[in-house]
Amino acid sequence: MVNEDLKPLPYGRQTIEDDDVDAVVRALRSDFLTQGPAVKRFEEALSAATGAKYAVAVSNGTAALHLACLAAGVREGDVGITSSITFVASANAVRYAGGTVKFCDVDPDTSLLTLASLEERVAECARAGKTPKVILPVDMTGAPADLPGVQRIAKRTGALVIEDAAHSLGATYAVGGQTFRAASCAHADMAILSFHPVKHVTTGEGGAITTNDEGLFKELCDLRTHGITKDPARLERQDGPWYYEQHTLGFNYRITDVQCALGESQMKKLERFVARRRAIAARYDAAFAGQSERVRPLRVRDGVASAYHLYVVRVAARPGEALVSVAARRKALYLALAEKKIYTQVHYIPVHAQPDFKRHGMGTEALPGVDAYYASCLSLPMFPGMTDADVDRVVAAVLGAV
Ligand SMILES: Cc1ncc(COP(=O)(O)O)c(C=O)c1O
Repeated sequence: MVNEDLKPLPYGRQTIEDDDVDAVVRALRSDFLTQGPAVKRFEEALSAATGAKYAVAVSNGTAALHLACLAAGVREGDVGITSSITFVASANAVRYAGGTVKFCDVDPDTSLLTLASLEERVAECARAGKTPKVILPVDMTGAPADLPGVQRIAKRTGALVIEDAAHSLGATYAVGGQTFRAASCAHADMAILSFHPVKHVTTGEGGAITTNDEGLFKELCDLRTHGITKDPARLERQDGPWYYEQHTLGFNYRITDVQCALGESQMKKLERFVARRRAIAARYDAAFAGQSERVRPLRVRDGVASAYHLYVVRVAARPGEALVSVAARRKALYLALAEKKIYTQVHYIPVHAQPDFKRHGMGTEALPGVDAYYASCLSLPMFPGMTDADVDRVVAAVLGAV
């Protein structure tokens, strides 16, 4: 029986404040609902926050992935490599562009792809006489993957790196004493962001690609709007001020000014939102310290400051316990928490095991790290609007049930 008096706690939710509403209303009253100045201002805010030279805002993160794959040159028969622990969109994007997907294993303690398994996938490609066209490391939960490691392997093979930073806006990682920002493209050719309501900042639906490469930037801009250009320097012939040319097969993946007005307003709060997420994570960490026989938060790699899109714990396996038993205890925990109106989630169902991938001959890899992670993981409520008392309520419920 669900207790009617308790406040529901979802695993994530947006924070919309009065000034966000005002910004949207101003956009609605302005001359432009789409293709106006708010898009550029939002893109500038994204460039400033990530440190990437260019940002291209689009209709959602999946569209961002699709365009990034196309700009990277993925075509029929090409191979893209990503992690099996991600949202399906990271893998689907390769397929939209005509490619097939190979899946990496993850370290179950971090949920991030392992370089060893990336090397295995690259070696499989080589044995089949192929080189991967793109590698898409996923910054699961808000913690950047080993991007320098991935970039090293990609450079050797000629693949481009598309960082899936849908979870990691605001995160940083250190390499050789230097700190880098997620989606800065310091160790990737492009990165993608999502502004779905559970993400760090929202536009309702929305996404973006960041890059430091001017050529990729121009191609992404063309692809976002039908492959059309009006740039006089690139036109094959001149006609009149109305004239444009389609130079490639693009899409309408534009984002509206109304959405970007919300995004611009939200970006002013990114630091505050991420700081609150980190404080919530620290409170969870402290409460779960010493409980590792029962429940274990994900490990954050050295030098990484996670942006905590998600806060994932793993149900600890007992000595000799089979994964089916761990999975059964995770399910029981999920249901017990739902009884208390704490609505957790499982991120993610391994993509390589999805029927549609199997049906198309993909996902044949054996991925023991993925299996161990999937059996045990649970995303607890994590959003800036949570109070300390909300966090304590979740902790008490988890420790009371596991
Ligand atoms: C890791 C990851 N990649 C890509 C996406 C796709 O983003 P969107 O929902 O904006 O299309 C998501 C969205 O949840 C995601 O979590």
